[in-house]
Amino acid sequence: MVLYQIQLDFPQIAKLPNGRPSQNRVSSMAYEQVALSETLVEGQGIEVIWQGNVIAVFRHGGVLYAIDGICMHQGGPLARGKLCQGTIECPWHGWTYDLKTGNNTATCQPMLSSYRVREQAGKIEIDFGT
Ligand code: FES
Repeated sequence: MVLYQIQLDFPQIAKLPNGRPSQNRVSSMAYEQVALSETLVEGQGIEVIWQGNVIAVFRHGGVLYAIDGICMHQGGPLARGKLCQGTIECPWHGWTYDLKTGNNTATCQPMLSSYRVREQAGKIEIDFGT
């Protein structure tokens, strides 16, 4: 696993009631490189650190996804979970989250932030815009 640490300053990120960044934030796109494409193979995830937060990035079905990387149950590492039909299952106790939305699949509750992610010129980039 490759772990990247990037330090950015985006002071105007909208927050959900739980204090996490909102996936519905008003956007001014700010894509930042977080990894090289070769570090993320199909069917797996990696963790990146952004402003002290763990983000899990997945390549699943040929599509890239990025969501908060820490399970809301007891802090399991989602990048090490099992991918299945557009969801990630936490490796510790099995909570599952939708890769597109970060919603818990059992309750449909929004629990994790999701981020736009793209791949350009051999690099994976996440939109951390506000
Ligand atoms: S820590 Fe993820 S399901 Fe328990």
